[in-house]
Amino acid sequence: MSKKTTILVTGGAGYIGSHAVLALQKSGYDVIILDNLSYGHRELVKEVLKVELIVGDTNDRPLLDQLFANREITAVMHFAAYIAVGESVVNPSIYYRNNVVGTLTLLEAMLAAKINKFVFSSTCAIYGMPQEIPMTENHPQDPLSPYAASKFMVEQILEDFDHAYGFKSVAFRYFNASGADPQGNLGEDHHPETHLIPLALLTALKKRDSLSIFGTDYKTPDGTAVRDYIHVNDLASAHVLGLEYLLNGGKSEVFNLGNGNGFSVREVIETAKKITGIDFLVKESDRRPGDAPILVGSSEKARNILGWQPQYADLETIIDHAWSWHQKRHGS
Ligand SMILES: NC(=O)c1ccc[n+]([C@@H]2O[C@H](COP(=O)([O-])OP(=O)(O)OC[C@H]3O[C@@H](n4cnc5c(N)ncnc54)[C@H](O)[C@@H]3O)[C@@H](O)[C@H]2O)c1
Repeated sequence: MSKKTTILVTGGAGYIGSHAVLALQKSGYDVIILDNLSYGHRELVKEVLKVELIVGDTNDRPLLDQLFANREITAVMHFAAYIAVGESVVNPSIYYRNNVVGTLTLLEAMLAAKINKFVFSSTCAIYGMPQEIPMTENHPQDPLSPYAASKFMVEQILEDFDHAYGFKSVAFRYFNASGADPQGNLGEDHHPETHLIPLALLTALKKRDSLSIFGTDYKTPDGTAVRDYIHVNDLASAHVLGLEYLLNGGKSEVFNLGNGNGFSVREVIETAKKITGIDFLVKESDRRPGDAPILVGSSEKARNILGWQPQYADLETIIDHAWSWHQKRHGS
């Protein structure tokens, strides 16, 4: 039997990383997860993914050197980061240390070990306020929070590492990751939760008293903000394609990953009520500073260059998959 290619997945015990691990396994790769479990879920790695988990930190250079020396790792998929925009405004220091310094430490260890293929989780938040919809990869960049700035800085590092060291990377700028593994074995479980779909489903499950809509006076069809929800399995399949693009000698690239369709906050809530069959309390609040009325991405570049074809673009399917997971995870 030929030996399988081994991929290191940082943050593989988290939401998007765990789905990517499943997709890598299905495509025939061996996976090692590095996760410090600050937010990840050990039991999902053990019971669902059943791959090797190294509990450790991307800031731990000796650990990384040892790992790369002892194991034949071909490429790294890097999901590990802190992800809460609001927290990053209050405590930027931990965001720059974890997301920028942690990534630089990992990249330096890779360089030392002569591993030069890297798939990176970036974000549409690096664009700031939209000047055109849908947003393409050429949209001007204006990160509005330390979280977004941390991703922007890593993209800059990756560009410079390519020029200087021939280091090859694919950076994926995700829009709103959503949904869950269609089998219901993996899904979203952030603490604290800040994303709309899980918040709606947790409210339906009576884990929360009410759900807030922030802003009902935007210039959108129903007055609420419009976002681009991309199914987590579609993100995962793009990561496998991005990896294979690099393994086949592709040059460094950045790609948007979005659905291309925008859904308003009210549409998400109404669909969640329909799928769950549960009416829950919704409160209308003022806009939050820094929230754009509409964020919708163009993913034509990923479709054209990687041959990416999202499978679950429909909002009902996304919420249905998330609901199966939430019932299993949180239902009584
Ligand atoms: N969720 C979204 O909608 C979204 C959108 C755009 C970009 N992203 C990016 O996608 C990636 C994954 O996001 P997620 O929603 O799965 O978050 P998550 O919190 O579920 O997963 C992140 C994982 O990384 C681990 N981790 C954090 N810092 C680490 C470190 N220094 N060393 C080792 N492990 C560490 C955590 O324990 C966690 O398991 C992040 O880089 C995030 O910025 C997410």
